[in-house]
Amino acid sequence: IDVLVLNGPNLNLLGTREPGIYGSDTLASIEQQTQQVATTLGVTTTWEQSNHEGTLVDLIHDARGKFKGIVINAGAYTHTSVAIRDALKGVGIPFVEVHISNVHAREEFRAHSYLSDIADAIIVGAGPLGYELAIRTLAPRLVDPPK
Ligand code: DQA
Repeated sequence: IDVLVLNGPNLNLLGTREPGIYGSDTLASIEQQTQQVATTLGVTTTWEQSNHEGTLVDLIHDARGKFKGIVINAGAYTHTSVAIRDALKGVGIPFVEVHISNVHAREEFRAHSYLSDIADAIIVGAGPLGYELAIRTLAPRLVDPPK
């Protein structure tokens, strides 16, 4: 099973960005830790990060036929992007929404997500572990049904 892990704007700054909120792990180290666990579940992960809304839309389109599931931390686009919502809906690939921080305990504008009501699951505030939890959630749901 192959899962696309998609990270949106500013997540390339993890490690140095507001460490009080996002911790000190880099995206590369989160990827490494998560992949280790994913392997034990029979899941391979492909990681992409972009600061550009249209690129994220393209990556979601390209996932069709390639990936059985998507884990997405859309960063700030979570709160603004109808385009990313439509892309996820358009390809119909099961996805889990992840936020490292607890978006409900921060500014009010972070409480609304354009993705949550169409997500299979939402994991917020679990820190970098959220990515692993997302894959643990997705994996059993992506198994091909018995013939
Ligand atoms: C975030 C939360 C968003 O509100 C913020 O814009 C981010 C990161 C998180 O992982 O906690 O960039 O998605």
